[in-house]
Amino acid sequence: MGFKLQQVVPWGRSFEEYCAMFSLGEQDLQKSILGVADGPAAFNAVLTEQGGNIISVDPAYTFSSKQIAQRIDEIFEDMLIQVANNASQLRLDKFGSAEALGRVRMQAMTRFLQDFDTGKQQGRYVDHELPVIAFDAKQFDLALCSHLLFLYSDQLDRDFHIKSVLELCRFAKEVRIFPLLDLSHQTSIHL
Ligand SMILES: C[S@@+](CC[C@H](N)C(=O)[O-])C[C@H]1O[C@@H](n2cnc3c(N)ncnc32)[C@H](O)[C@@H]1O
Repeated sequence: MGFKLQQVVPWGRSFEEYCAMFSLGEQDLQKSILGVADGPAAFNAVLTEQGGNIISVDPAYTFSSKQIAQRIDEIFEDMLIQVANNASQLRLDKFGSAEALGRVRMQAMTRFLQDFDTGKQQGRYVDHELPVIAFDAKQFDLALCSHLLFLYSDQLDRDFHIKSVLELCRFAKEVRIFPLLDLSHQTSIHL
């Protein structure tokens, strides 16, 4: 059964958020990077513009930029309501408000959409999904995985986590995963 557009919940983070989440310094940004589950994040677009070397993989890349843009339009208001309703549990301090966070997310996703068609042609956005990434033995310096592993600990079982982390280690010399908390803000049971 294939990945359906309705399963995609586009909520992409900015380049600056990726640098903060993964403690990426200047030297890291010069490495060859595999971004796993990057979805509509702006990291690939901005890093490429800066001369970086990155490939992002996500099952959502099977869809066109038009389909992803349409899905963003469908769910964006609802996501903002969910953020506002959960504001006390989320760290909104650096954004100020749910609306401000929404603006950052929308800017990041717009940046992604502007880059997606070109990036897909260049092989920078590839439709692969954990736990198996079907590249030919390509080796990266660094693999990053944001807001998939550990976060969805209820939906993705221990076996999926172990296979996925081993797969990331197969492709990259170093792997960084964020967060290590689940959706209830507790340390993942799979950690
Ligand atoms: C919450 S989003 C995070 C997007 C991005 N990493 C960020 O932090 O802004 C989760 C992403 O995981 C992707 N995803 C879902 N299942 C996946 C799998 N088995 N392997 C890789 N990516 C997956 C989704 O398509 C979605 O883009």
